[in-house]
Formats: sequence, structure tokens, C-alpha cells
Amino acid sequence: MKIIGTGSILPKKIVTNDEISEIVETSDEWIRERTGILERRIAVDETTTSMAVEAGRKALENGRIAPESIDLLIVSTFTPDRSMPNTACAVQGELGCRCAVAFEMNAACSGFLFALNTAFAYFSLGMYKRALIIGAETVSKTIDWTDRSSCILFGDGAGAAVVEADKEMPYIFVQHSDGEKGDVLTCDCHREDNRWSLAGNRKEKVWMDGQEVFKFAVRKVPECIEEVLTAAKISSDEIDWFLLHQANQRIIRSVAKRLCVDEKRFPVNLAHYGNTSAASIPILLDEWNQSGQLKRGNKIVLSGFGAGLTWGAAMMTF
Ligand code: UT7
Repeated sequence: MKIIGTGSILPKKIVTNDEISEIVETSDEWIRERTGILERRIAVDETTTSMAVEAGRKALENGRIAPESIDLLIVSTFTPDRSMPNTACAVQGELGCRCAVAFEMNAACSGFLFALNTAFAYFSLGMYKRALIIGAETVSKTIDWTDRSSCILFGDGAGAAVVEADKEMPYIFVQHSDGEKGDVLTCDCHREDNRWSLAGNRKEKVWMDGQEVFKFAVRKVPECIEEVLTAAKISSDEIDWFLLHQANQRIIRSVAKRLCVDEKRFPVNLAHYGNTSAASIPILLDEWNQSGQLKRGNKIVLSGFGAGLTWGAAMMTF
């Protein structure tokens, strides 16, 4: 499988750490030191769907790909605008990918990676040949803006990649989930109670045990990257770029250290966007591609981790 186009879009509104410290008791210094985040983009006029459409359009343009040639369209999000129809169908309608089957996937911050893996599985069966994979989120609408331990972290945005089946281009992945640890990072669905049910004790905003998520990430991410490198029979020295989910600079630093890889090979853009969940890997991929730092023939590792718990890694040649 190979990537033949990338695209991304961020909301226009920038919210700085200083602005966040007007809402909750925190400081620019604390947020920078503990996370590496300086600012994030927050959707005002944009929606998950509008950003998914725009990121998808840009990925098609980048690869000079006709929308009708897409036969699989997956949008990964935990913040859809509607429960139905699914976001991918809305994107299909807007972009004119009329030959595609379109559906949504939710694996939180691992969502884009899991959607890529899904496309690869379909390609391997020979069912589809060209897919548009999008990660799009408006996390801001699920944030508890009174909770300083979580509201500082997240941002909105969307990223996309067009991938194509290619037997000459190996794609190796591992993916995992552990539902027993699901309670450490949650966001319950908004629900109007029906006349027979009682309002439960739901957490309809993002709730997180930050330290537990941190510990999980620094343990499982290096583990699954090593797993994928072993499966690919390749050493970490041969990997040009490690494109990780952008959650926290300290997590990325710790992963690099555990793998004994120079941090310079771990591109980071979370300083400006915060954690955009399923959108973070494709936004980073697109930025690295557009800036010319990611070159054809580069070997890359993608790794996502988040609620579920879910985590995984994939290795491919760009
Ligand atoms: O996609 C995956 C999504 N989630 C993540 O990746 C999150 C992973 N976890 C983290 O990134 C970190 O755990 C956080 C950034 C959320 C928190 O950093 P930490 O170094 O683990 O802080 P902590 O939770 O241990 O809290 C240390 C102190 C506490 O005060 P006391 O009890 O020591 O007095 C907190 O109340 O920092 C306090 N604190 C804050 N202070 C200022 C927590 N949040 C803030 C804040 N500003 N925003």
C-alpha cells in the first residue's frame, strides 16, 4: 500500500495558553513545561464534516486524483456532527466520490491508523484499490472547560491521505485494544432520557486520568513500534520518520528515548495544534509532506494511542 496524496485543514481561531488561563487556574508556563503545547485551534464556524471535506479535497488535489476513482472512504472521528448519516457519507456527497463505499470508524486517537489498517485489509482481499482516509475532530465541543487537567490539551482539525493498493510497497501493522482499561479516558454520548429511563451519572465531556494515560502511552507505544519493526524485519536506524499521535511532547520524548532513536526523527506540531485526536497523525503527515521534509522513498512509522484503550503502529515506505 502506498500514500499518493495528503491534505489537512485547521480552524482559523487560535486560542493561546494565556487565553486558557483566563478560564481555568493554569499558566502558559505550566502547559508548556508539562505538555509542549503553546496554542491550539478551536472550531468556531468549522464543523467535523466541513473540515473532513476540506482535508479530503486537499488530499485528492495533492495526489491529482479524480474523486470518482476512490472506492473506499473512511472517516475516523469520535466527534461527529451527527449520529447518522455517518460523516464519511457526508464527505462522499460533498466531494463526489460516488463510486466509494463510505463509513465512519471510532478508535479515538488511534482512529486514523486503524482506518488505514482497515483499508489495507480490504486491499489485501482485492476488494478495493484506492481509499480516502480522513481523521477529523472538533474535540473542543466535548471539552469540560472547567477541568484544567484536560481542557489545556486538545484542539480541532482534520487530516487526510489517499492510499492505493500496491503489492510492491509493503505495509506492516500491529493494532491492539484493552477494553478493561477503558475508564481512564472517556466521553459519554449525549442522550436525551426517554420517559422510562432515569438520568444516569454520565460524563458527557472528556474525562481523563492523565497520569494513567501517560503511563499507558510511554509503555505501549515503544512496545508496539518494536513489534512492528520486528515484523517488518527492519531496524529503527532504517526509519526516516516516526510520526506519532501528538498528545504530549514528554510522551514523544520518552518514546524516542526508549527506542534509542534521536528525537529529531520524531516530527512534532503539537505546540501549535494541541492534541487533535484522530486528526493528529494525518495533519502531521501532510505538513511533513508539504514542507518537503518527507520524501518519496522515506521509510516511516506511524503510531497512534488513546481511548479504548487502543494503540498500534504501522511501517511503510512513503
Ligand atoms: O490522546 C491521549 C490523550 N491524553 C493524553 O495523552 C494525556 C496524557 N497525560 C498527560 O499528558 C499528563 O498527565 C497531563 C499533562 C494531563 C498532566 O501532567 P502531569 O505531569 O501528569 O500532572 P499531574 O496530573 O501529576 O498533576 C500535577 C499537579 C497537580 O497538582 P498537585 O496535586 O500536585 O497540587 C494538578 O492538580 O498539577 C496540577 N495541574 C495543573 N496545574 C496547573 C493539573 N493540570 C494543571 C494545569 N495547570 N492545567
